[in-house]
Order: sequence, then C-alpha cells, then structure tokens
Amino acid sequence: MVFNTDFVIIGGVKIYIKDVDSYLAESFLLLYNSNKSNENKLLNLSRYNGERQQYVDKLLEAYLENFNNINEILAVLKDTVSVDNILKLNLNRNDNYQITLKDFWYLKRDWCYLKEGEEQIEIIVNSIKEELSNYKFQNSLFLGCGAGRLVVEFCDIFDKIYSTDKSFSMIWHINKLLNNVSYDFYNPNPKNVFKIEDVARKYTAAIDIENRKKIADKIDFFVSDVLDLPFNNYSLNTIFSIYFTDVIALKLWFPKINSILKSKGLFIHFGPLDYFFSDETEMLTAEEFKSFFEKNNYKTIVDKIIETPHLKDDSSISYQIYKNWFFIAEKQL
Ligand SMILES: C[S@@+](CC[C@H](N)C(=O)[O-])C[C@H]1O[C@@H](n2cnc3c(N)ncnc32)[C@H](O)[C@@H]1O
Repeated sequence: MVFNTDFVIIGGVKIYIKDVDSYLAESFLLLYNSNKSNENKLLNLSRYNGERQQYVDKLLEAYLENFNNINEILAVLKDTVSVDNILKLNLNRNDNYQITLKDFWYLKRDWCYLKEGEEQIEIIVNSIKEELSNYKFQNSLFLGCGAGRLVVEFCDIFDKIYSTDKSFSMIWHINKLLNNVSYDFYNPNPKNVFKIEDVARKYTAAIDIENRKKIADKIDFFVSDVLDLPFNNYSLNTIFSIYFTDVIALKLWFPKINSILKSKGLFIHFGPLDYFFSDETEMLTAEEFKSFFEKNNYKTIVDKIIETPHLKDDSSISYQIYKNWFFIAEKQL
C-alpha cells in the first residue's frame, strides 16, 4: 500500500488533501476570479463599436466559450463551498500567476496533437527515456502533472504511475476528456498575430483510445499538494518534476519527496528555473540545486541542457524557447 491516507471524490476528482473544505473554497475562488476576468473582457468588448468588429467578435467568441467551460467547473464546486470558508481564505487576488488559468495552454499542447505541441513533447520524452533505458522500475510519481500527456508517454516503462496536481481544474479536465469524446476551448491571442483567424482559433482536445487504455491500466490521476503528498515513506522508485521544480522553493518540498523516495530511487527534473515565487533568496541556480541534492546523499546521474520550444502556438508570431536544465539524481540511502 503506497498511500498513507484516504481520499474524497468531488465531481469525479480524487482529492488527497487534509483540509478539503478550505481547498475546495480556494479552488472555487481561483476559478471564480479567473472567470471574472473573462466576464470583464466580454463586457468591455461587447460595448465596442468601431472598425475592428471582426477582431472583437473573434475575441468575444473565444472568451465566451472559455467562460462557459469554467462555469461548468464552478457549478461542480459551488455546492461544496461555504461563504465562511471563502472568507477565511488568505489568497492574493493580485497575484497574476495564481489567477491565470493555465489549463487551456496545456490542454492544447497535450491533447490536440498539433505539430508544435508534439515537437516539445517528443524532445522531452525522448531525452528522459534515453537516460532511463538501463533502469528497471515499478512505480513513479509525477509532481504538478498539469493536463497529463507527459505522464502518459511514460506508461511503457512503469507498472504503475501516480500523477498529481494541486489544481482541481487540471485533474477535472483530464477526467472530462476520459469521459467525453472531445472538449472545445480557445487560446485567444489578442496580440502577436498576422491575421484575424489567428486571434482566436478553436481547439478540440481529445484522448485517443490507445491513450485511454494506457491511463485506465496504469495511471492514477489525483489532486494533492506537493507539500503534503499522501504517500508512505520509501514507497516510490522515481519522482518526476517536469516544469514543476520552479513553482515552489525546493527547501519546502524536498523533505517530503526525500522521505517517500526509495533507496536507489531517482529524482528527475526537467525544465527551466523560472521561479514563480517572489523570495529571491530561494531562487537557486542549477549548480546550487545540484549541490543541495548531493549534500543530502544523492548522486548526480544526469546534468545537462536540452532546448525546446515552450507551449508554442503556431497562430502566434512569438514563442518561447527554453534551455531546459535536465537533472537526474539517485538517492543513496
Ligand atoms: C508549469 S505547470 C507544468 C505542468 C506539467 N508538469 C507539464 O509540464 O505539462 C505546473 C503545475 O504545477 C501545479 N502545482 C502548483 N502548485 C502545486 C502544488 N503545491 N502541488 C502540486 N502541484 C502544484 C500547477 O497546478 C500546474 O499544473
């Protein structure tokens, strides 16, 4: 038994969080704030009266579809949330990182099978698999798994994969794709576009039959917080942190992942060190990060840079290139 606690299921989403009432209130408020921003854009744009009506209509179409999508999740959470729990929350409403919903960016890269997304996925997966080809594993855990495609790509090398994200909506979206044939959404580009069609293209996400089978056979997707993962000590062979390491300061989550990883288990980091928190004293360099692991009895197996486009969108004339740091460390004790 790898889990050390029980879960609850809300709207089909499996949740391993101790103070679930407060978690649901926080999830509701994040989605509510994000949809308020969609609503404000809808209101402002609908008052427009000028020559750029075609451009405005494109954006209206996009914000409305996404607004309805998010409302569907809010409807699931609404009955689980009390006003008292919302008022008790200590959430920074001005923190853009917190209120920006990343689901649609990741749904597009992961489950729309577009050339630009597949390119990023292929580089990441091949680089990691190449390094793991001499190992034999039973299980693994993916931290901050997002929309889940990268996880599914590793099904062939594990008997069981645990895959977690703190975002209710990310896991809800994975379930939605597993229960429905397809899911429509937009990734609006108000700027950096050549032509009107590119301002808002409609995308359809779907999980094909082959990947559904892999998920049913091997993957357990659930909500939990990296700061309080629901696993017994020494229960996991591998822990993946792909585009996750820089979300929270290492010193806060290292003790937990260190305790649940087995001896000779691997910690795998892939991504930039873009740090989405504000405390500069915790923004470790790759060298410091590596030496932190070594001081804690880990042996460095891989330490290199792999370049990828990041969440590239072919309808935009701008995109990011990440010089991803790829680091694998083996626990010695
Ligand atoms: C940059 S995204 C990466 C998603 C995914 N790893 C990928 O590369 O496709 C980071 C993810 O971490 C999740 N996250 C943020 N804080 C978390 C926490 N405390 N515990 C678990 N997941 C968290 C976010 O919800 C988000 O889905």
